[in-house]
Amino acid sequence: MQVILAESAGFCYGVRRAVELARETAEASGGCWMLGDLIHNTQVVEELRQLGVQKLESIDTLQAGDTVVIRSHGESKQVLDWLEAKGIRCVDATCPNVRRIQTLAAQAEKEGRTPVIIGDAAHPEVAGIASWCEHPLIFSGPEAVSEWLETCPEARETPLTVMAQTTCIRELFETSWKIVKKECTNAKKFDTICIATHKRQSEAAMLAAKADVMVVVGDRKSANTKHLTEICKESCPRVLQIENADELPPDFFSGCSVAGLTAGASTPAGIIKEVYAAMSEEIKAVENNEESFEELLNQSFKTLNTGEKVTGIVTAITPMEVQVDVGAKQAAYIKFSELTDDPDAKPEDVVKVGDEIETYVVRVNDVEGYAELSKKRLDAVKVWENIEQAVEEKTVMEGTVTEENKGGIVVSVKGVRVFVPASQSGQPRGADLSAMKGQKVQLRITEVNRARRRVVGSIRSVSDEARRAAQEEIWNNIEVGKRYTGTVKSMTSYGVFVDIGGVDGMVHISELSWSRIKTPSEVCKVGDTMEVYVISFDPEKRKISLGVKDHSVDPWQVFMDKYAVGDVASVRVVKLMTFGAFAEVVPGVDGLIHISQIADRRIEKPEDVLSEGQIVDAKITAVDEERKKISLSIRALLAPSVEEPEDEIAEDGEEE
Ligand code: F3S
Repeated sequence: MQVILAESAGFCYGVRRAVELARETAEASGGCWMLGDLIHNTQVVEELRQLGVQKLESIDTLQAGDTVVIRSHGESKQVLDWLEAKGIRCVDATCPNVRRIQTLAAQAEKEGRTPVIIGDAAHPEVAGIASWCEHPLIFSGPEAVSEWLETCPEARETPLTVMAQTTCIRELFETSWKIVKKECTNAKKFDTICIATHKRQSEAAMLAAKADVMVVVGDRKSANTKHLTEICKESCPRVLQIENADELPPDFFSGCSVAGLTAGASTPAGIIKEVYAAMSEEIKAVENNEESFEELLNQSFKTLNTGEKVTGIVTAITPMEVQVDVGAKQAAYIKFSELTDDPDAKPEDVVKVGDEIETYVVRVNDVEGYAELSKKRLDAVKVWENIEQAVEEKTVMEGTVTEENKGGIVVSVKGVRVFVPASQSGQPRGADLSAMKGQKVQLRITEVNRARRRVVGSIRSVSDEARRAAQEEIWNNIEVGKRYTGTVKSMTSYGVFVDIGGVDGMVHISELSWSRIKTPSEVCKVGDTMEVYVISFDPEKRKISLGVKDHSVDPWQVFMDKYAVGDVASVRVVKLMTFGAFAEVVPGVDGLIHISQIADRRIEKPEDVLSEGQIVDAKITAVDEERKKISLSIRALLAPSVEEPEDEIAEDGEEE
């Protein structure tokens, strides 16, 4: 006797994923709940129970903080909303194929179309899908569709979007669609039959056609197992549906030379193996036949190829992966580890539901109907292409300085390490390059060796160019009186050099302040920001003379507005002479304290009492508006009875 085991028998991608998620969740959270049976298999449900995944009969018993795993059939929108409102954590193991139909149904209604689902209205998957829209129509097959069209003639004009339960028998769906297409004027079809189911059914039909006996293994509650049995019965006279090897009748195989074996999507490999072993010992012959069978399947079903680029739409972000609709039959997903290079990025930072995404196909599993994608690998390929192109086109790129090493710094450009020698860092020789760590910089790629993964860049090339452009801009637009905000670059005893955006200009000490100052350091320091204006410039010699003092302000007027004869002012002694001392009353206006007015006694020279820089109170004893001269007296404050001099301004008011 020859036993042929169907290649697609057993767990599908969606079921395997749901079981793995439940196991991981129970392990991580020390126990969780499932709403009803996670899958239609008593043995698996029992195993999960022992791991801490408890079956919940009513959601009312849940409390905030509990964790619930949503089964692969999905759940109704109302239940999910209720769970969210109650603060219950959901681990969504809804199969991506089912999620796609839920989205399609909701979308159809949004577009003003009536969703039509061909499937079993009592099945939890179909009930779940129906809850994502308000007025869905559910038909079990072509007869129900015809009946509806007869009783409801206006349906012919209604815009319809027709889809199928994932496990629907293909013939039922296609025949139903043919009727709708023929009778209705505005109908759209989405082939939502799960590819794993379709393959399993096709394989079962082919196997049943050449077998004398067919055995279908699966739970009696499982819809897809029931469908498999029905399909096998169409071409094989002896079909047996069992849940495990114990149910095999001893004489069932007598007289048969070829026996076929298949199993539903919720049947674990262990049970299939047991049944297989019980049916035959001719395993080698079975394997040979499977090979040719697999080839046949691959030829007819493969739609995505490993290594190719595909563009899809993000349909869901789950705790483990990003699901992508690539327009193929396979359920495609990206594991988080394949999403991005950035270890700190969350999936929601990288993609959002509805985003178009370009990916690389890592693996295609036609048998189970899924495809693994990677965004990271495609990004890496693209980055290298970009970098190579950037060398050719001398493009300016942006990156972040990640480390300093012996000869320079390393800049991360889209995840690629670019070495920038110290001489190209844009910093002065001997500067502390570690201070650049974490800075965003612009640079040009100067050398790439993809095989050795060596990339060299230059920040200086960009900064020099920017500086030249800024210089050009300044020299093209400079004019006397124009104002700039500059930075003090260096200082000398006679003035300061100020960078006004790529070009340095000089502010002479006399133009720095209205006050008398001896060194520029009295009013500024290197690194200060300074508002300056252009006094003169020479484009040939590339010299610019700048000023800070605001000549529109008249210091004498400031003095006149503030003081009158008889007022007492706090003044700063700025210069000592033989005949007295000059003191600043307001910046840019000095007055004279005659030697006779410095003290209430006779003094030899002003420095006997005063020193330069000293702040003293002095009385304003006379103001000569015409000659802009001021007489001050300290003595007047010390001895109020002493007569104040009247004529000192004329004789002694000159500084030299
Ligand atoms: Fe999903 Fe298809 Fe399995 S719809 S749960 S992969 S049968």
